[in-house]
Amino acid sequence: MRVVLLSALCYCAAVFAQSSVVDSYVAKESPIAKAGLLANIGPSGAKSAGAKAGVVIASPSTTNPNYLYTWVRDSSLVFKAIIDLYARGEDSSLRGTIDNFVAAETTLQQVSNPSGSVSTGGLGEPKFNIDLTAFTGSWGRPQRDGPALRATAFIAYAQNLIANNNASWVTNHIWPALKLDLDYVQNNWNQTGFDLWEEVSSRSFFTTAAQHRALREGAALASKIGQTSVVSGYTIQADNALCFLQSYWNPTKGYITSNTGGGRSGIDANSALASIHTFDASAGCDAATFQPCSDKALSSLKVYVDSFRPIYAINNGIAANAAVATGRYPEDVYFNGNPWYLTTAAVAEQLYDALIVWKQQGSLTITATSLAFFKQFDSSIVAGTYASSTSQFTNLTTAIRNFADGFLAIHAKYTPLNGGLAEQFDKSSGTALSAVDLTWSYAAILTAFDARKGVVPPSWGAKGLTVPSVCQPNAGASVSVTFKVQATTQLGENIFLTGSLDVLQGWSPDNAIALSSANYPTWSVSVTLPANTNFEYKYIRKFNGAITWESDPNNSNTTPASGTYTINDSWR
Ligand code: NOJ
Ligand code: NOJ
Repeated sequence: MRVVLLSALCYCAAVFAQSSVVDSYVAKESPIAKAGLLANIGPSGAKSAGAKAGVVIASPSTTNPNYLYTWVRDSSLVFKAIIDLYARGEDSSLRGTIDNFVAAETTLQQVSNPSGSVSTGGLGEPKFNIDLTAFTGSWGRPQRDGPALRATAFIAYAQNLIANNNASWVTNHIWPALKLDLDYVQNNWNQTGFDLWEEVSSRSFFTTAAQHRALREGAALASKIGQTSVVSGYTIQADNALCFLQSYWNPTKGYITSNTGGGRSGIDANSALASIHTFDASAGCDAATFQPCSDKALSSLKVYVDSFRPIYAINNGIAANAAVATGRYPEDVYFNGNPWYLTTAAVAEQLYDALIVWKQQGSLTITATSLAFFKQFDSSIVAGTYASSTSQFTNLTTAIRNFADGFLAIHAKYTPLNGGLAEQFDKSSGTALSAVDLTWSYAAILTAFDARKGVVPPSWGAKGLTVPSVCQPNAGASVSVTFKVQATTQLGENIFLTGSLDVLQGWSPDNAIALSSANYPTWSVSVTLPANTNFEYKYIRKFNGAITWESDPNNSNTTPASGTYTINDSWR
């Protein structure tokens, strides 16, 4: 008995010590993170000289890596955090910066770039120069989370303006640009594209989740401001995206498989980031939208966190149920594969979000799916619903808060004394590395701190959604495209086509589309492609099991708005 009591006391003291470490970190780091974030926004940010007004630089780092560009994803996530803070009345001086952001992004949408023009897929371009011109180097493009995340940021601002009797500003200054992004999401959500880490071209959980959210809240905003013609189109595709979203869940392995391609385990911060960026406390622990406290999201979180225990030396010796440093995904080799500040913060944030909901609903439910997650904190716990009056509820929520604080304590431990947040910290030494002053790192720690304080972000309509029983493909406008290529071949050798679109088999040589040699030496095939879409492709030869690609660069073309279209090529 004495031993038990003593160990309980020690545990309690350790929890107390850790929570005060985190309290001090919050107090010290909050103003540093806010200042760090504002320093990276043009035109007057201290570290973003040359950035146009409202432009967020990813980081001031110009070499190894050069991040002095503006990414639509980073900028939108950063501004969503700024807009929420503004809307809570915490800093009215941010209004001008937010208006600059809206204006800068409205300009960017119209900049023709390697993904296309505003009407042919250009909205999927991931990054631009900080003077708002196109970045034309090779890159993983398109990335289809950008327009959705930007729409979510614009909608947050629009809702605040409407609540403050400024609906006409929304209609005149925000809606036109917002509608472009929402239309893009509506028409393209089910096309493949590069994931948030810019590496895998397939479908990606984070991207689908962001798209679903944008369409859902876009439809609600549109009806609020009388733009009724778009509402049913957005809602239909929101339902379709929600339906597709379910398919990422791997019931046998108990986690969300982040990408449909790429050949990795699929264990990825992608899923925790999706949960926190689509958190809606009014939806409770609904698994349809993978809410932070849903059984699926918690199970996934455990698998994700555990994957970093054996691979980072700085995690050695940490108890199997205690917080560790986490990275993008276990197979990562970027800078040798290290923990990231923003992913470690995201784990904490997901847990704090879960605690907000359990407290709000006065109970927590453990299912067979989430049992392993909860057993980390009480090995004798069984599936069931525990009311807040029970000791299980108190013990579990106390332990989970301590677990969440643990991730912030690690974040604090590896943050340099000056509070600057880079992109990564070394998996062996813990020293900060890669891009310094990463704007997204600052935004990520601020939102994690807010969640710890119990700040509830605005609802976006995730409550009570029904997943359609049959998933429909997106029936957007399409065009029949005939590809003709002149190619001389030897007997038994055949020509195939593959490219950047889903229907072009997403660059898969194995699944490439066979062409007919009926009009040899012209090989041809007709394929139905989405209208108004910029795409890249190559022909490949297959002979005796060997594959030969056309030489670089990729071919590119753009489908028209309607009708039929023929492309004449010769093998390169
Ligand atoms: C730069 C991308 O931003 C990063 O996510 C990626 O890991 C590296 N390129 C390597 O592909
Ligand atoms: C690399 C990250 O993988 C990507 O998500 C991010 O957009 C860029 N760096 C810029 O921060």
